[in-house]
Amino acid sequence: MEWVYTDEVKDHFINPRNVFLDEEKFVYNASGKSGNIKCGDEMAFYLFVDDSTKVIKDCRWKTYGCASAIASTSVLSEKIKGMTIYDAYKITPKEIVDTLKGLPAHKIHCSVLGDDALRVAIDDYCSKNGINIKTQKK
Ligand code: FES
Repeated sequence: MEWVYTDEVKDHFINPRNVFLDEEKFVYNASGKSGNIKCGDEMAFYLFVDDSTKVIKDCRWKTYGCASAIASTSVLSEKIKGMTIYDAYKITPKEIVDTLKGLPAHKIHCSVLGDDALRVAIDDYCSKNGINIKTQKK
């Protein structure tokens, strides 16, 4: 049977970026969790957002999800560093899958897990700071 994952997926699965480690003293000011109803897996996302610029300075994540969820969220975590929360909110799972040069069709839903948790974390930041992200055009 042929290996179905791209080299990009394998790279990010084997060497995931920005994973939250308990022993690490990562300072964050927003967080969010999401679950995948299809498989029962969970994802948590942590953000450190600069309050004056609304730029995501750093992030971490952790999951009980599969290889596709790990690779997808690793890519996502690299993309959002340096973005404003407004731009990060607009990233789509398709952009993540494209960066990974594809996922098996039955694993596409896994790429949504990190994306959902990121939005919950941004929503958390917005609610703490009186921002209505749905009305922002930045
Ligand atoms: Fe659960 Fe992929 S099977 S996230």
